[in-house]
Amino acid sequence: MTSDFLKYQAQTTPHPLAMEISHATGSFIYDAKNKAYLDFVAGVSACSLGHSHPKVVNAIKEQLDKYMHVMVYGEYIQKPAVELVKLLAKKLPESLEKTYLTNSGTEAVEGALKLAKRATGRSEIIAANKGYHGNTLGSMSVMGFEERKQAFRPLLPDVKFIEFNSEKDLPQITEKTACIILETIQGGAGFIEPKNDYLHKVRQRCNETGTLLILDEIQPGIGRTGKLFGFEHYNCIPDILVTGKALGGGMPIGAFTASSKLMDLLMDNPKLGHITTFGGHPVISASALATLKEITESDLMEQALEKEKLIRKLLIHPLIKEIRGKGLMLAIITDSAEIANALILNSQDQGLILFWLLFELKAVRITPPLTISNDEIIKGCSVIIGVLNSIQQ
Ligand SMILES: Cc1ncc(COP(=O)(O)O)c(C=O)c1O
Repeated sequence: MTSDFLKYQAQTTPHPLAMEISHATGSFIYDAKNKAYLDFVAGVSACSLGHSHPKVVNAIKEQLDKYMHVMVYGEYIQKPAVELVKLLAKKLPESLEKTYLTNSGTEAVEGALKLAKRATGRSEIIAANKGYHGNTLGSMSVMGFEERKQAFRPLLPDVKFIEFNSEKDLPQITEKTACIILETIQGGAGFIEPKNDYLHKVRQRCNETGTLLILDEIQPGIGRTGKLFGFEHYNCIPDILVTGKALGGGMPIGAFTASSKLMDLLMDNPKLGHITTFGGHPVISASALATLKEITESDLMEQALEKEKLIRKLLIHPLIKEIRGKGLMLAIITDSAEIANALILNSQDQGLILFWLLFELKAVRITPPLTISNDEIIKGCSVIIGVLNSIQQ
């Protein structure tokens, strides 16, 4: 299997972990030899209800028995998709009312950027250094990391970069700017939270200049930070909200949400302002609906903040310089990429899954399922401390 994996399945990293999966349930993934791995990564913040959550699995099975794909996006009324976007609207501020469902996060970002251009008639886009929004050409154009973009230029013109959390850069948002796109909490950069009311100040500058604010909540959204959306912590409501990852409950999804006034612009001039065949897929929507219901009807979001405290209490070690992030979107910051690599690889050998962040190589991701138990947290953190002790020797 490993040789076929390497021979036939295209890879974009020279050293994939190449662990063969047998099955996954709750907080555990099992390899082909039935070895259990405690999952502190949750499919990179995507499996927030853990693996094979029974409510999600049942919702998928029930929908599978009714119908799968029947028509391209939006032409037919398909109950799971309608109920999903209605529930999202109910949980969001009034101004975020209408949602377009996509197949991935990056496609939702593309849709959001297009909507901002269409709505303002402006072309300039502002993004943040070390921001990450996906890997299609539009999303890559607003990625704040030149090294990963160079080979794919030319990308979108008229994109400017500012420093996240730098108030002095905000005058660069002007009447020429269609939109500014930011992650609510910068992920790839090392789980950097907005500070000193930064997002509120961005919001104010956007109001002054008629610029649309796009917040990318693909990673922090859907409960991971202890609230349904990260922006709820920071006194700022975006014009366009982008979500994905955990919304799907383990299935592929993306979504962008805005006011009806904005969204309805995609219907006209030109007609079909954004189209996709599979967006709003009934089986995926059923999975997402069950996920969103479970996250909003349970106390998992409150628990995320308690579990954060437990992790912070347990992860004290001379090789840990800092723990960044919020809720269960946490990153251990070490002194070097070598320490981070050793921690990730040795922990995997010992049955604990950790992972890297995209641009901050000294960081180690801790984004377990929100459903992880305190005992599992204690077990995983003791593996981390043990591995760090062995690295220190
Ligand atoms: C903040 C953010 N935006 C966008 C994306 C892209 O989403 P997808 O991989 O589903 O295209 C990601 C994925 O890691 C992300 O973390």
